[in-house]
Order: sequence, then C-alpha cells, then structure tokens
Amino acid sequence: MKLLVFDSVDEMSRYAAEKTVQTIETNQRPVLGLPTGDTPLKLYQYLIDDHIHNHTDYSDVVTFNLDEYIGLDSKDYNSYHAYMQRHLFRHLNIPLENTFIPKGNGIPLSKAIEDYESALEKHPIDLQILGIGANGHIGFNEPGTSFESTTHVIELDPITKENNKKHFPSRAKVPNKAITMGIHSILQAKEIMLLASGTNKAEAVQSMVEAPPTTECPASALKLHNKVTVLLDKEAAKLLKEEHPC
Ligand code: PGA
Repeated sequence: MKLLVFDSVDEMSRYAAEKTVQTIETNQRPVLGLPTGDTPLKLYQYLIDDHIHNHTDYSDVVTFNLDEYIGLDSKDYNSYHAYMQRHLFRHLNIPLENTFIPKGNGIPLSKAIEDYESALEKHPIDLQILGIGANGHIGFNEPGTSFESTTHVIELDPITKENNKKHFPSRAKVPNKAITMGIHSILQAKEIMLLASGTNKAEAVQSMVEAPPTTECPASALKLHNKVTVLLDKEAAKLLKEEHPC
C-alpha cells in the first residue's frame, strides 16, 4: 500500500484526475470503478475540465459504480444514479450503456445482483477509485462484511446513516439498505486508488493503514492487494505514525 499525503484536497484531486486520465489513455477499452459521496467531487470536476480542454475521449470508457441505495428511484435526487449524471456523466461523451450502477429499485434485487455481476465479469476493472467511510467502509461494505463478498444487499451501519443524513430531509429518510459491490470484487481490480480527506476520516485511515486486515475495518482488506495507492490530505493523515510526503 503506497501512501501519498497532499497539502490540500485540491492537490489530491488533481493527482487523482491525472492518474485517471492516464488509465484512460493507456487502455483501449478502459474500465473505471467509481465512488460517490463528497470525496470525489473535485476529482470529477477536474475530469470534466480535462475533457473540455484536452478532449479526453470517453466513448470507449466503461464505468462501474460501487453502490446504490435500495428503494430510491434512479431519478431521485439522492440516488447514486442521479448523482453520477449530475456530477460526471452528463458532462462527458460517455455512452450511458457503458455505465453500470447496481439497481436498487424497479427490478428484483436478485436480478440486479446477477446483472451487475455478469457485467463485472465481462469488463474487469483497470482502476478502481474508492472513498472510505468514517467507519472504514469501502463501497457500502460495512464493518463485519466478509472479504469474500461479491455484490450483495447490506443494512446500512448507524454511522453511515448519520454521515449521510445531511443529504436527506431527515435521518429517518436515509434508506436502511443498499446494494454494493463486494470486497472480493473490489480486490479483483487491476489497480486501486483510495482517496480520503478531513479529520473525520483520520481514525478509519489509521486502522486501514496500521492495523492488520480485519473485517471490522473493511478498507483494511486493501492490504491484500498488491497495487493500491492511498491519497490523503493532511487532516486524514494526522493520526498516522510515519510521515508519508508525496
Ligand atoms: P464521503 O463518503 O466521500 O461522502 O465522505 C465516503 C464513503 O462513505 O465511502
């Protein structure tokens, strides 16, 4: 696990965008794994700016989103389908049929899982980009999730609901369940890049980096992968024992 600590979220996001564009340019049919949440917003803005100014071509890019809430219509403002349209896809020349997001509504969940797994099998991920939850989750793989897990339905952890309530009218409106790519599937990516910023991620980052792999900290599974880069701002890195300048 390689660690890079940046002075600001802006620098961290710019580095992540450069790495993403490099992956697109060096693969004929690039496959990206994408997160949602607050962390990747600047990265996505950099990718949009790059597309506008450097014309990076997304017509052959395939994307997989990690997760989706169960029970929200894909047009619901808080669904991750809508988030991805708003923050990235509609600004790029990416064909919608190349973008895979697990479906949390409208079809039986067993079918949603089957469809997503079979798409993953057809398109192995070149670069999986991740955020991390304050409880150490990756995707919606909450503490306790098996490292052998593939796509599955999960009950959201109270910490996740608390963190995500800012996007909903009230905590009670945060969905209880989600569908998520599993930890095993995440580890199949050829390369992984995890981003974390802010003090509220410092403890999770410390457990991921310094503790042995344990299902109590799902992100610690990344230690089992041989090509992981962790990008941090100073606040997220503040509890780490060693210095990791970029
Ligand atoms: P955040 O969420 O980027 O909104 O902090 C990250 C996550 O929960 O994985």
